[in-house]
Amino acid sequence: MLNADRTDPAALRGTIAAELTTARARTAALTDCVDDPDLTAQHSPLMSPLVWDLAHIGNQEELWLLRAIGGHDPMHPEIDPLYDAFEHPRAERPNLPLLPPEEARRYAHEVRGRVLDLLETSPLEGAPLLDAGFGFGMVVQHEQQHDETMLITHQLRRGAAVLAAPPPPAAGAGRLPADVLVPAGPFTMGTDTEPWALDNERPAHVVDLPAYRLDTTPVTNAAYQDFLADGGYDDPRWWTPEGWQHRMDAGLTAPLHWTREGGQWLRRRFGTVEPVPPEEPVLHVSWYEADAYARWAGRRLPTEAEWEKAARHDPASGRSRRFPWGDGEPGTEHANLGQRHLQPAPAGAYPAGEAPCGARQLMGDVWEWTASDFRPYPGFRAWPYKEYSEVFFGPEYKVLRGGSFAVAPVACRGTFRNWDYPVRRQIFAGFRTACDQDAS
Ligand code: AVJ
Ligand code: FE
Repeated sequence: MLNADRTDPAALRGTIAAELTTARARTAALTDCVDDPDLTAQHSPLMSPLVWDLAHIGNQEELWLLRAIGGHDPMHPEIDPLYDAFEHPRAERPNLPLLPPEEARRYAHEVRGRVLDLLETSPLEGAPLLDAGFGFGMVVQHEQQHDETMLITHQLRRGAAVLAAPPPPAAGAGRLPADVLVPAGPFTMGTDTEPWALDNERPAHVVDLPAYRLDTTPVTNAAYQDFLADGGYDDPRWWTPEGWQHRMDAGLTAPLHWTREGGQWLRRRFGTVEPVPPEEPVLHVSWYEADAYARWAGRRLPTEAEWEKAARHDPASGRSRRFPWGDGEPGTEHANLGQRHLQPAPAGAYPAGEAPCGARQLMGDVWEWTASDFRPYPGFRAWPYKEYSEVFFGPEYKVLRGGSFAVAPVACRGTFRNWDYPVRRQIFAGFRTACDQDAS
């Protein structure tokens, strides 16, 4: 969201309408490229059928905008439980009497028409859900998050490729140092001012950190292959006890979607099999694998606070930026975001997106696992619903930061927090490593 929008309601309305349209175009692209049986099939027990995501997007938009803000009556109260993520686990969703594809499309489209009418007349101030268009911003981010979820489903789906995109830009010129130093000192973590920040990003609070070193870029496939070649998956020394147990139970031997053929690592990417590109950040590893790699490398995963300080702290002003490059919205020169490409860019790309500490690609390319459990910040208040964040707080979820190539600019910022179970690797996640300053 643009800074100017905070003071100009007409500009804010225009931005919201444009964001709603961008999100819906992406949703349509992800659901129009496959046929009806494909939309209703379950491609992985971890994922919903695409047609569930589609109607769930419409249903949440109806709940938060038409009903909560607009005061409208439910359009189809009988379908609400079908699309409540807490009523039915994903594995059950294909057996529910879901709206068939054409009806799901029509429902989402009808909701959207009424939402655009509501936007015309909403004051965009005077109530917490209206202030700065927060409710609309939340719904836009929700749709974009489910678009990323649907892209994950596409990656898990078997069959011929149906998606295409140009390759991302090459690495910037010049050799980069392996890691950067972030000096000791306090910084402001989280936010009170980012208008569309979600509840778990609030409130802003000062965190004082000792000095540490952080990888300049995410760990590459080449570096990860060294870990494989060194027997990293067969050596319990590098793994936590739970990680080793999981590695054995699940039979992990390499990142998800990798296969070994003729002495070479190949990967399947959206229906195409290709050699694993050495300079690209590693993708589709679990937290346990990332953590094991870091120990093997004599390092550790960064904490969430370390990640955010590297991404936001400006030592010249002492304040925290919205993004590594400053306060301006993400441009195509800053970061690999928004599914413009269907893979991460090579390590060292996007020099214009560099943070003050010298780290690159903190935004976009791959979600980055951190060492931290998903916990509330001091003073956290669940809002507008506790099922967004609060019910997930605790030691069973690890925080991911930064955002992947599949994250929309509107759903990413230096404060944004994602989370998942440490065993998960279908998500577009990689990592970078850190160490205490005196450890190097
Ligand atoms: C923040 C990505 C973990 O997909 O479970 C979507 C986002 N919340 N609908 C998820 C979300 C409700 C959430 N993550
Ligand atoms: Fe959802």
